[in-house]
Amino acid sequence: MSNVICVDGPAASGKSTVSKLVAKRTGYLYVDSGALYRIVTWLALEAEIDTSSSEAVAEFVRRVRVDFTTREGRVAYEVRGEEPGDRIRTPNINAHVSPVSAVPEVRALVTGWLRGMRSLGNLVVEGRDIGSVVFPESPNRFYLDADPEERARRRLKEDVAKGFADKGAVEKVKESILNRDKIDSTRKTAPLMIPEGAMRIDTTELSIDEVAEKIVSNIK
Ligand code: CDP
Repeated sequence: MSNVICVDGPAASGKSTVSKLVAKRTGYLYVDSGALYRIVTWLALEAEIDTSSSEAVAEFVRRVRVDFTTREGRVAYEVRGEEPGDRIRTPNINAHVSPVSAVPEVRALVTGWLRGMRSLGNLVVEGRDIGSVVFPESPNRFYLDADPEERARRRLKEDVAKGFADKGAVEKVKESILNRDKIDSTRKTAPLMIPEGAMRIDTTELSIDEVAEKIVSNIK
């Protein structure tokens, strides 16, 4: 079985940036599990599924097809032969992804995909339930956190760069991430939590480099 480094944490806690850097330094493949939940949400919205109905989402998810390939040090996802890119990172997807992710059938599908990726090589996997549910047997489990104000500032910067928000929208972004955190940590199936035995890192005052270094130096 390949080695897996698990990086969990709430929205905009720095997981993606840090995990990509850890992958680069270790030569492991970077895996973005949130992107898979975002793809399912995007396809459901495109098919005009009522995402507030878990029955409708559960029924729809049986038809979802995603292809996996490795590209530039990461596991890449293709839908109809194309990577979805920023289409899965819009405020509209942000507003629907947490309820869709709470549907057990969606979680079962994505968990199966993630476990299957071990056949591709060593992995750095970031998400919400990676160390607690997907790979609980991994000795390398980390939980990143940061103050909500700092997380909102980080996410706003990304959203402004993508043209999804104006500079003054920090309160709106904070509300959106706190709302997602609430749904993610209170859902019945695989809630966001600090996995037992995971190392917690508060990234509020740390640079990306410092967080990545903490992880790399603690890999067992
Ligand atoms: O990058 P950000 O922290 O905003 O979110 P993400 O990692 O792209 O995840 C988007 C959403 O997918 C989360 O808010 C969760 O609802 C869901 N998710 C999950 O339920 N389990 C995971 N392992 C990863 C993401």
